[in-house]
Amino acid sequence: MSVLQSWPVQREFDPKNMPFRRLGGSGLRVPLFSLGGWLTLGGTVVGDPVKEIIKTAFENGINMFDTAEAYAAGKSEEEMGRVIQELGLRRTDLVITTKLFWGLRKGPNDGGLSRKHIVEGTQESLARLGLTYVDVIFAHRHDHNVPVEEIVRAFNYVIEKGWALYWGTSEWSAREIEEAHHVANKLNLIAPIAEQCKHNMFDRERPEKEYHGLYKKYGLGTTTFSSLASGLLTGKYNDGIPEDSRFSNHSEFFKDTIEGLKSPAGQEKIRKVKELTTLAEQELQTTISALALAWVAKNPNTSTVILGASRPEQIVENLKALEVLPKLTPEIMEKIEKILGSAPEALPSYGRPMLDRFGRI
Ligand SMILES: NC(=O)c1ccc[n+]([C@@H]2O[C@H](COP(=O)([O-])OP(=O)(O)OC[C@H]3O[C@@H](n4cnc5c(N)ncnc54)[C@H](OP(=O)(O)O)[C@@H]3O)[C@@H](O)[C@H]2O)c1
Repeated sequence: MSVLQSWPVQREFDPKNMPFRRLGGSGLRVPLFSLGGWLTLGGTVVGDPVKEIIKTAFENGINMFDTAEAYAAGKSEEEMGRVIQELGLRRTDLVITTKLFWGLRKGPNDGGLSRKHIVEGTQESLARLGLTYVDVIFAHRHDHNVPVEEIVRAFNYVIEKGWALYWGTSEWSAREIEEAHHVANKLNLIAPIAEQCKHNMFDRERPEKEYHGLYKKYGLGTTTFSSLASGLLTGKYNDGIPEDSRFSNHSEFFKDTIEGLKSPAGQEKIRKVKELTTLAEQELQTTISALALAWVAKNPNTSTVILGASRPEQIVENLKALEVLPKLTPEIMEKIEKILGSAPEALPSYGRPMLDRFGRI
């Protein structure tokens, strides 16, 4: 079989009005909004509904799909691969990303970032996806029990084998990302091109402060996740936990988050969600969901915002963020900042000219 895997193409990709950005300093172009499968695809959503969700995304300009070996214990990769094949999507039209770390079994070498798991885990992911390569493979977490040189060399091996075209990190600290770059630089190897990080109106520290110096220096791209804070920024949790929502379907996993919503800090978040809803509806004629997603996409260091959806309608609603983007004027951004009051404190400049929080002079 050709490396590009030719199954009959039934659907041509039409990017519609989707903007594309480079993934960091790489030449890979990614849609401003992509789609991921955590908890949903292969988890709470299986069978034909997965096809409906991916089809709706693809028909609305989303050609990038993110998964991980651990999502639904491998089922997410299986379902995504099955649907891509059944829909007859052209492999070259797609950007497929997966992640390794958590593993599927409990053996001492079944997870983490040893060369053994990176090589074996990649092969197992590809088998589940039914693909010969993924576009980007991410280290789902850092592994402090493996020398960084081993990690960098193993991802380079995976790339040389043609099993992945690029590699990236997820939830690594700035120091860990820098170390990977230094090792790659010293050994003349390929460095990670992007960090998959949490970024939403309530979680800002890493992408807006900690990584601040990395964007320009290393051409770091970001694929942001949980940009709706798992649904909190849709307003659906303002008055409790609705049935058939993420927090009710995964109440054990989100136990602390659910409890936290009752605390003064949690109530304060809900108050802000309500204020942002008013701003979205009255000043931008949109929903808070679209506003919250556009706000992350507005950040010039965001390469792609990975959406999560349990039903196709959520994708259509969330892509209204594209219409909101041009409405995010400096005045509106200031009003949002006033409501949030959560901008990370800038690094001290001691009177010297400072880069802004996007790493620009
Ligand atoms: N690297 C990592 O460690 C990591 C971690 C987390 C996620 N990710 C990736 O990022 C992707 C997105 O993250 P996420 O799923 O946490 O994103 P999110 O946008 O914060 O949450 C998505 C969930 O919110 C609800 N939702 C979405 N749109 C809605 C709308 N318009 N109205 C009402 N509810 C809505 C849906 O859940 P319900 O309908 O079930 O309530 C949906 O599954 C994941 O799929 C995964 O690929 C990566």
